[in-house]
Amino acid sequence: MIGPMENSGDLESMLMGYRVSAALSVAAELGLSDELATGPRTVAELATAVGADEETLARLVRVLVTVGVYADNDGAVSNTPLGEGLRSGVPGTQRPLARTLQDPALWAAWGHLGHSVRTGETAFEALHGVDVWTYRQRQPEHNAIFNDNMTARSWKIAGAVAAAYDFSGFHTVVDVGGGQGIVLDAVLRSNDHLTGTVFDREHVVATEPETAALAPRWSAAAGDFFAEVPPADVYLLKSILHDWPDDRCVEILRVCAESLNPGGAILVIEAVLGQPGHEADAAFSDLNMLVLPGGRERTEDQYAALFAAAGLQLTRLVDTPTRMSILEAVKAGPLDRA
Ligand SMILES: C[S@@+](CC[C@H](N)C(=O)[O-])C[C@H]1O[C@@H](n2cnc3c(N)ncnc32)[C@H](O)[C@@H]1O
Repeated sequence: MIGPMENSGDLESMLMGYRVSAALSVAAELGLSDELATGPRTVAELATAVGADEETLARLVRVLVTVGVYADNDGAVSNTPLGEGLRSGVPGTQRPLARTLQDPALWAAWGHLGHSVRTGETAFEALHGVDVWTYRQRQPEHNAIFNDNMTARSWKIAGAVAAAYDFSGFHTVVDVGGGQGIVLDAVLRSNDHLTGTVFDREHVVATEPETAALAPRWSAAAGDFFAEVPPADVYLLKSILHDWPDDRCVEILRVCAESLNPGGAILVIEAVLGQPGHEADAAFSDLNMLVLPGGRERTEDQYAALFAAAGLQLTRLVDTPTRMSILEAVKAGPLDRA
């Protein structure tokens, strides 16, 4: 049996994890990995390039060398493979995620987790008096970083969704709360017969497709998914329902159900609690939903109940090679898919 002192080092590492997050977020904000993209630099060169205090930057770099993000060979600092992942624009970049941590409102909300656990309230709203969506609307810089982060985080999942689901029976698709449209982009690229619309709030929605060649089959629409969505054969809702409590999810699903074309399907793409191999991802994301937007991650049965409350039925769960699954729902009733 492991005694209390034997694993105290592991616990200490866990407890001190916030320091790594903080150091990474500053490196990302300064753009150190971008500066190192063309080759090694000295700390003095880096400090000049990013506008930092040389001696203090050396202390930050020293920490990030110890965790394997940068290498230091006799004063020549370079990206390791981890450091490469903090570069802008590389597939799967973690720089936007790291930059979101620079927002003091978000950082403080996680410091308020105890309040959520004691009361069940959303930490962000309890602390700042405003929900995350209104906050982002009022803070364009944070809004832009959040949207970049969603695009970066959804990039791999978007491709996996496009590969895992058969869209051949449909003509029109709407990416509900689609932000910059990364999921729609992947689905349209894999399905030449589809036309699609990305739908989101006016201050968020993409103005042009990520892949320029998709423009003839691509459109954008601004609005509120609690009030309306454009009609479609398929709705994609990726990382939408987990942002909201049950009653609000049912409202969104009802709005989609009302506008769904006959024979259509609603695809909810989420990290489903209890999916083997992804337990930690889903559990941490669940806490993040508690702290920030006031939503939650759910089990397959809990999604089935949401669909049923909105007059829909869960038809199947399609796994992807990522941490997310596709929950397919159609209008309840035996004749709709005929
Ligand atoms: C977690 S992000 C998911 C973005 C995208 N689906 C993805 O996975 O990359 C949630 C999205 O819902 C949008 N959203 C929030 N409230 C909305 C509303 N009332 N109407 C339309 N979109 C909304 C946000 O602007 C944001 O883009």
